Amino acid sequence: MSADFAGETARLYARYRRDLPADHAEELAAQLGLAPTDQLLDLGCGTGQLTAPLLPHCAGVVAVDPEPGMLTGLRDRGLPGVVAVLGADTDLPQLGRLLAPLGAVVVGNALHWMDEAATLAAAAALLRPGGGLAVVTQGPPLWLGPAPWQLAVRGVLEEHLGPVTATCGSDAAALATRVGLLESQGLAVQVSSWRADHVVDAAWVTGHLGSALSGDVLTGELRTALETALAGHAGPLVEQVLTTAVVARRT
Ligand SMILES: C[S@@+](CC[C@H](N)C(=O)[O-])C[C@H]1O[C@@H](n2cnc3c(N)ncnc32)[C@H](O)[C@@H]1O
Repeated sequence: MSADFAGETARLYARYRRDLPADHAEELAAQLGLAPTDQLLDLGCGTGQLTAPLLPHCAGVVAVDPEPGMLTGLRDRGLPGVVAVLGADTDLPQLGRLLAPLGAVVVGNALHWMDEAATLAAAAALLRPGGGLAVVTQGPPLWLGPAPWQLAVRGVLEEHLGPVTATCGSDAAALATRVGLLESQGLAVQVSSWRADHVVDAAWVTGHLGSALSGDVLTGELRTALETALAGHAGPLVEQVLTTAVVARRT
């Protein structure tokens, strides 16, 4: 919901955003054609939700993000073979001069913050023959999910903040646009998706929301209203997460 990823948001991100599960990462690595000798670039890496699970499938990861707090969270994981770089989508051509050809470029839940056409073209230009580019989304966002407790969370958010309809690039129209952009680069494109159910609790939900809201928005009255709404739901809170990967290979 917010473009401000600094400070508390980054701290909550490290704690309340899930890594891509290991079995999904293994499938994604195979679809990317990732080899153990390859270098991978994770653009908009956050605190490493794709970097960490893909690292076992390659020689090393260059993890790029414009938010220092996110890179601190990634460095705190102490992953050998990961270089955290302060940079953005617009740095891809310069990074390419230093690093190309790469085995893979991945973008997780971040492309909607960038110039999508320019970024995908620049990323495609960095790939070795046979290399792959993946755009991964986990969606819809928690507050747009269909479970009754998620509808309640959305109701509270909209009461306090107004409409919260942005899909963060996880909707069908965004998917179709990205497939078209990648095909226009002459890449071979496939789309995969994985579902996973996660049991969560009120602390996790509010922590996750804090990672999506800027600064101190999630305080006082709003936090209390969310906790009250969630307390009204009997039984476990189950979040169904749909992960979608658009994978494009250079032939
Ligand atoms: C929602 S987080 C996604 C983090 C992680 N990749 C994931 O899958 O959860 C979006 C990330 O994109 C970064 N970002 C925002 N604008 C960017 C840009 N122009 N270029 C690269 N990264 C950007 C943010 O700093 C943030 O870390």
